[in-house]
Amino acid sequence: MPFDSQDLLNAFQEYLKFARSSDYRNHARYIFPFFEGTYFTYRKIDVLRIVTIAKAITSDPQYLDIGCGYGDFLNKVIQYIPSAIGVEKDATIYYYLNTPKPEYIISLPIECVTQPIDVAFVGWMEPGVDFRLGVADTAKCVITTFDEGGQCGINGGCEYEEFGYSRVAWWRTPSWIDVNHELMNSYYSRQLANDSLLRNSLRDLRSAHNLWYVYVRDEYLKNRIKFRLMNWLKKEGPTSQEEKFEFEQILDECGFQYKTRLPSMHSSEKLWEVYFD
Ligand SMILES: C[S@@+](CC[C@H](N)C(=O)[O-])C[C@H]1O[C@@H](n2cnc3c(N)ncnc32)[C@H](O)[C@@H]1O
Repeated sequence: MPFDSQDLLNAFQEYLKFARSSDYRNHARYIFPFFEGTYFTYRKIDVLRIVTIAKAITSDPQYLDIGCGYGDFLNKVIQYIPSAIGVEKDATIYYYLNTPKPEYIISLPIECVTQPIDVAFVGWMEPGVDFRLGVADTAKCVITTFDEGGQCGINGGCEYEEFGYSRVAWWRTPSWIDVNHELMNSYYSRQLANDSLLRNSLRDLRSAHNLWYVYVRDEYLKNRIKFRLMNWLKKEGPTSQEEKFEFEQILDECGFQYKTRLPSMHSSEKLWEVYFD
């Protein structure tokens, strides 16, 4: 459900207050994802996975981030795919942030994009919003993130099988809501900050996981992506420790380490483990 503009103005005032005065400036992206950060959590290895997938299709892929907001994730991808662009239906975010819109973000709904692209990245659709048809019309490969249980469209599904795609691989990251709850419980709730037993029992309930699904339409691309991603994963372990974004420290601190298993997960699953179909 898109936000109303008065709610956004109020939230923006709170964000500014927090950004100016908090001792924990780096919490902002998990508290105010609309203004700083994203609606899905990620590490640098997620960016590197996406780049590996895109470059498995062609060495100079046409990459489009759909509903990119103000471009937090897109900015990371551009470091590796300089021609990457984003489309964002509602560019008023630049008005709130009082910053000019970069040229690589086009203020358009995806339904108006007709040129074919290699990779469409969809970083979380608002509950009840469903622009999958527009995405499916344009892309050879779709990479989408959504909350387990789904939050899209009328029946909640965020998958792409119904548009003729087949899934290549998937992985799971914590949802920003779980990270937000951890921060709230540890830093912003007086009662919980002093009660580690209660805090730990609440930790075990974390279950709002974010899924990353990779889809293609053709079998040849499916095999190419699998091959390249499998090769990349062989060296990912050391990279995951050596090359981190600064904000990953919060994920580690909140118990969402790379390849960790949460009590609410199936016994054979781990966060950030890639599973192939
Ligand atoms: C939940 S936000 C996610 C933004 C960003 N990907 C992130 O994670 O921070 C979804 C975004 O999709 C945009 N959006 C909704 N419908 C769209 C459409 N048809 N075409 C392009 N963008 C759209 C919204 O304006 C919103 O900024």
